[in-house]
Order: sequence, then structure tokens, then C-alpha cells
Amino acid sequence: MSIDIQSPLTLPCGAVVPNRLCKAALTEGLADEMNRATPRHERLYRAWSEGGAGLVVTGNVQVDRRYLERPGNVVIDGNGGLDMLKRYAAAGTVAGNQLWMQVNHPGRQTPVHVCTEPVAPSAVALNLPGAMYAPPRAMTSGEVDDVVERFARVAAHARDAGFTGIQVHAAHGYLLSQFLSPLVNQRTDQWGGSLENRARLLRTVIRACRAATAPDFPIGVKLNSSDFQQGGFSEEECVQVVRWLGEEGVDLLELSGGSYEQPSMMGVKSKAQAAAPVAESTRRREAYFLEYARTIRAVATMPVMVTGGFRSRAAMDEALVAGELDMIGLGRPMCVDTDLPRRLFSGEWASAQSYETGIVPPKAGLAWFCLQLLRIGDGIEPDRALDGARAMERYASSEAAAAKALQGR
Ligand SMILES: Cc1cc2nc3c(=O)[nH]c(=O)nc-3n(C[C@H](O)[C@H](O)[C@H](O)COP(=O)(O)O)c2cc1C
Repeated sequence: MSIDIQSPLTLPCGAVVPNRLCKAALTEGLADEMNRATPRHERLYRAWSEGGAGLVVTGNVQVDRRYLERPGNVVIDGNGGLDMLKRYAAAGTVAGNQLWMQVNHPGRQTPVHVCTEPVAPSAVALNLPGAMYAPPRAMTSGEVDDVVERFARVAAHARDAGFTGIQVHAAHGYLLSQFLSPLVNQRTDQWGGSLENRARLLRTVIRACRAATAPDFPIGVKLNSSDFQQGGFSEEECVQVVRWLGEEGVDLLELSGGSYEQPSMMGVKSKAQAAAPVAESTRRREAYFLEYARTIRAVATMPVMVTGGFRSRAAMDEALVAGELDMIGLGRPMCVDTDLPRRLFSGEWASAQSYETGIVPPKAGLAWFCLQLLRIGDGIEPDRALDGARAMERYASSEAAAAKALQGR
């Protein structure tokens, strides 16, 4: 049977994704000072739905108002806003695509302007220059149980609001990924030590989300293929965790990698990766986690999506035909060209634009892309010529204003 980026995909729970392209999670920063959804989400998500992606995953939504990834996050924590969330979900599904809420707890990756005492599995501070993240304290076992309940409550709320599924965020060094990491998780209770114990929180969260929703409600997981850090969560450990995720009935596994300390998800190579020879085929295929996907997919009983680096339709179709993955995640290009999937399907474009190479200076990267999302949310065209240095300045001041608004509530 021939397969390409326009082929539909049936998930284990029975839900159908109309094609193989996914708008990967992109933090929007568009919530109000109570961290509720706004009409700006409605505008942005309508654009993504109409843009043709079979699956649209939201930016990370937090389960606890005390711990945010950034001040403008949507939070579901008894703060109201269900009507607006329903409008957001309706707009994000107008084209008949799947719309999954990415559910997250940032743990120690909570910025200091949001929280001066974040929590983590153990009191291990981020190893980053500057003072943007306060050292965390270790969570009590009661707090770990509370996190499980919070994920389940948010999953149920997402379903009630009209989101067609959820994605549990267990990648990029956020709380669930911190629990998986032997570097950050130094606990000696049932949540730490062996891989089985370190993976317990993720498995318990998935089980609780399933129990709070329904057997036919898609539950995906975003997982690091590796943390790419000496002594961190490794590829071998990932393979075992993926076996367990199969037992938990996960519907889609999204493979990514890295953390704030080692931002591999953006294509930044660790020393070991940079020293390793790169196979020509991998380079040609653009996607930097594809070589890990092969080993992981061999044990995965659920469909696998790979996000990071995919730009050309040829590389996407080639990876699908080779059976290396089932779905393709697209991040940065979707911050500017919300209709990229449609353009690829029609043949108008053979490839996404790689704004990050040459156009946006690496340090300005995230700020540049985040500002484009704010513009689209405001109903303004993206600014493809936006200067990198100006983007960093503007982003810093808009984040500071959002953090101040939180303090004033
Ligand atoms: C502006 C921006 C915001 C992001 N926000 C999130 C997020 O909320 N959750 C997440 O899992 N990944 C997030 N990511 C990572 C992307 O989902 C994706 O993994 C990464 O951009 C690599 O894919 P790409 O090469 O297609 O951009 C973000 C990336 C960017 C550029």
C-alpha cells in the first residue's frame, strides 16, 4: 500500500488523524493574567486548523498555576475560562483535524520571575548561566500524588472543552522528563532509583488520564529519545520506557530530545553527537532524531512521530515509505506559515522555509518565533524580516510585562 504525507492514520484507540503532518506543540504565551484562554488563541488555532495539519498539538498547558513554563501559559487549575476554552477548541478543529492539548508541569524549568521556589524530583539546580531559574526543592510524596491528580483533571477538562485528545509532555527536561533522568531524580522512594521507579510517574499519569477520559480518547506522549547528557536519560532507557508505554495503551509517541541544558530539540548538538560521524542518509533526511526512531520504533506498538528538522516533502515521504515513522511533527515553520501543510499537499511548495538557518540568529531563535505567534494571535501578518536583536528585546519586555500582570492579580 502506498503511503505519503496525505495518508490518514488510525490510532490504537480508533480515532483517525486525516493526514501525517502534525503542528507540533509551540508555546503561545497568549493567556490572560488569570492564565485563561483568550480570543487570541481562537484566532491562532483557527489558522492552524485551516492550514491543513491532520493533528494540531497545543502549546504546553500547565496543571498547576504556581509552576509555569512562561507567564502567558494557559493553566487549568480552578481558574475558570471553560467557555473560552470551548471556543478555542471549536476554532482549532474547524477543518476536521485532531486537536490535542499538550499537558505539562515544568518542574525546575519554571522561570524565577514566575516562581522563586520551583519543585523537582530532587533538589538539583539547572546548570545554566545567569539566574533565570531558582534552585528547586525536592517534592514530597504527597506532591507527587497531587501531580497525578492534576494531570487527570486537566485531561478530563480538555475533553469537556472539545479538545479531541491530549499529549502528555514527558520531554525537554520538564517535570516528567526530570523524573526519568538519573541526574535530576535522586530519590530513594518508589519514584526514584531504578528505571522502573523513575518511569512510574509517567505511567501513573497516563493511567490516570485514561481513567479520567475514555478508551476512545487519544492520549499521546512526547518523549526524549535521549537527554543527550552524560549520565542522563539514555536511548537504551528510552527503548524500555517505550515498551511500557505500549502496555499503557498510548496512542501516539512523539520523539524529540534534550532539555534547557542541552537544547537538542532545536538541532543543537551535544559534544558526543558533534563528534559522531553523521550518516549521509540521515543528513539528507534532515530530521535529527530519525536515527533514534529506527531502534525505538522496533519496540513501539503505537504509531511514532518524529519532530525536529523536517522541512522537505521528499524527506517526509521518504521516511514514511521507509517505515521509519508514522507521522511528521513540524515546529518552527508553523510559527510563520500556518498553512504549510496545505502548500505541501498541493505541490505549491516542495519544502518548508528554514527560517532558523541564516535568517534568524541562533540566540534570537525562540524569541523570534514566539513573537510571530503573538502577531498571528493579534490578527497581524507574521514579520518574516523581523530583526533578531529587536526580537530578543521585544520578547524580553513582553515576557516581563506578562510576569508583572501575574503578580498583580
Ligand atoms: C517557539 C517555540 C515554542 C515551542 N513550544 C513547545 C511546547 O510548548 N511544547 C513542546 O513540547 N515543544 C515546544 N517546542 C518544540 C517544538 O515542538 C519542536 O519540538 C521543535 O521546534 C523542533 O521542531 P522543528 O525543527 O520543526 O522546529 C517549541 C519550539 C518553538 C520554536
